[in-house]
Amino acid sequence: MKKILVIHGPNLNLLGNRQPDVYGNTSLSEVNAKIKKVGEQLGITVETFQSNHEGEIVDAIQEARAEYQGLIINPAAFTHYSLAIRDALETLKIPVVEVHLSNIYAREQFRHTSVTAPVVVGQICGLGTYGYVFALEWFTEHFKKSGQTE
Ligand code: DQA
Repeated sequence: MKKILVIHGPNLNLLGNRQPDVYGNTSLSEVNAKIKKVGEQLGITVETFQSNHEGEIVDAIQEARAEYQGLIINPAAFTHYSLAIRDALETLKIPVVEVHLSNIYAREQFRHTSVTAPVVVGQICGLGTYGYVFALEWFTEHFKKSGQTE
């Protein structure tokens, strides 16, 4: 069974309470339950990790290499300036998909820059929690195409 790690960055632990007009009413534990369930339907084991700390996210990215075949990350505010997270992603040998709940290009200017987007396979934004579902579907196709079926 393929294993994918989903990393949620800072303040995403407040999902459901934080700016629900922008990020929706669903809590992080509900989001995690949903993506784990979708993973099961697709034959993928999904594990999740949230941190408000840059170094912990860098550690999780570095460690992902040994245990997972793919990474989905919403680096939250770190998207816009964390070169440490970008470098960690660039060094990782497994495919990475970047997800944002909101459309970062339709918001403040500082959110239009993603320092992480250039080192990932692709970015999904503005589709709310469906972004995680679509990222998992992409991984299913990717595993099939690359012959990684076990
Ligand atoms: C976010 C967008 C970021 O700009 C913001 O700092 C977040 C969440 C999103 O999912 O839309 O915390 O990554």
